[in-house]
Amino acid sequence: MLTDQEREEIEAELRRYPDKRAGCVEAMKVVQRHHGWVSDDSLKSLALLLGMTCEELEGVATFYNLIFRKPVGRHVILLCDSISCWIKGCDALRGHVTSRLGIAMGQTSADGRFTLLPIVCLGACDHAPVMMIDDDLHGDLTTEQIDHIVERYP
Ligand code: FES
Repeated sequence: MLTDQEREEIEAELRRYPDKRAGCVEAMKVVQRHHGWVSDDSLKSLALLLGMTCEELEGVATFYNLIFRKPVGRHVILLCDSISCWIKGCDALRGHVTSRLGIAMGQTSADGRFTLLPIVCLGACDHAPVMMIDDDLHGDLTTEQIDHIVERYP
């Protein structure tokens, strides 16, 4: 079920597209902004609004890795594991982050603070290794910097 507010924001997004199906990612982002993720119920309502089947919309949601189909923590850490970041030591950083947060990749910390996910190239290879927390890009990372950076996200 979509709220009136969500429906209003989605319809504003869809006006930018000649075919409302083309705005499906933006529509899912609206829901995600409100709830942190896209539930099955929201997906069904969105599919109906967009004139798509649930399977079609699910296909887009699972292809686009910034749409979350499960609840996530208050902050989502996306740790790049593509080639430049790998050369610059992302494996060691991943080990550090997972041990510091006490979670494996794909998991959410028990306090609901962080979800840790892998991501393909974030387009900032010249600052590898790189991660994003929410909408913030952090580059040239070291384990010490990661410790300082995560403290900024309560
Ligand atoms: S490979 Fe990590 S930002 Fe490009």
